[in-house]
Amino acid sequence: MNNSQRQERVLSGMRPSGKLHLGHVRGALDNWLKLQGEYECFYFVADWHALTSEYEDTAIIGENIKAMVIDWLSVGIDPHKSTIFVQSKVPEHAELYLLLSMITPLAWLERNPTYKEQLQEIEGKDIKTYGFLGYPVLQAADIIIYKANKVPVGVDQVPHVELTREIARRFNYLYKEVFPVPVPLLTEVSKLLGIDGRKMSKSYDNSIYLSDSTPTIKRKVSRMFTDPKRARRNDPGNPEVCNVYSFHKIYSEASEVAEIRSKCPKAEIGCVDCKKILADHLSKILAPIQSRRNEYLSRPKEIEEIIMEGNKRAVGIARATMIEVREAMNI
Ligand code: TRP
Ligand code: SF4
Repeated sequence: MNNSQRQERVLSGMRPSGKLHLGHVRGALDNWLKLQGEYECFYFVADWHALTSEYEDTAIIGENIKAMVIDWLSVGIDPHKSTIFVQSKVPEHAELYLLLSMITPLAWLERNPTYKEQLQEIEGKDIKTYGFLGYPVLQAADIIIYKANKVPVGVDQVPHVELTREIARRFNYLYKEVFPVPVPLLTEVSKLLGIDGRKMSKSYDNSIYLSDSTPTIKRKVSRMFTDPKRARRNDPGNPEVCNVYSFHKIYSEASEVAEIRSKCPKAEIGCVDCKKILADHLSKILAPIQSRRNEYLSRPKEIEEIIMEGNKRAVGIARATMIEVREAMNI
């Protein structure tokens, strides 16, 4: 780590949507882990953002916050290296959000591709709200209130970070150079698919969770879709169209991957055995995560303390930024 990196700040957040699955690890947490050794990192639970779609049933959000922090800790997010906090416990985000909303042109929000996509995609919930349109403004406040330089996100979130950059620049131009203009750090991994070949997502019931036991993993892997043309054991298979093989490429050793690559098209390995190898690897990978999880679960007080400590650190920084902001705006 060089000195200029050490001074740079990384910030990212996740909505508390329930227990985390392998897709979250692959798509975000692996990156967060790497970054916490290189930068000063802030990772937070975006519970206000969860309200934009869950405002009708808010009970679940509280439960999910702690569960998600436990998942973060169990994969190795280290509270001694990273600040872990909860958005709603730092009300300064809301103040900055309000001030930024005054300078954000409506057109910037309406043309946001993620916004347009979600309006079409999310069914069964009325998200034609003011809060949902303002989602990226709140996200901008989350980011710049810590003067973050880098924001690790998946590709779907890049438009939000782009908007954050525009808002930060506009503030700096209108009032005073308060905010660094942050850059997105794109998590450049292919999307891990669920056991049914669709995007891994809680709502599709196709996920492998960090907390899944070995028998559960076995059962889920045995139900995974394979090459649809390989109906019988003697049929040749094509690994390139098989989701099990995509998992092997991520979680198995290179020699095993090569072996499957060569044997599957000759029907020298069957799907049952192929899946057994994968399930064993997944169990092995999840074992240390689960033992750390159990340790934390046996000390629930410690989790609360970690969150409280993180909230305190975050509040300290957010308050200091708001003093500068108010001064810059003459408020
Ligand atoms: N919108 C992000 C998501 O759904 C969560 C989020 C909220 C976020 N605020 C953020 C991510 C700030 C990065 C930085 O994944
Ligand atoms: Fe997929 Fe493995 Fe079956 Fe080949 S042997 S089709 S890679 S599960």
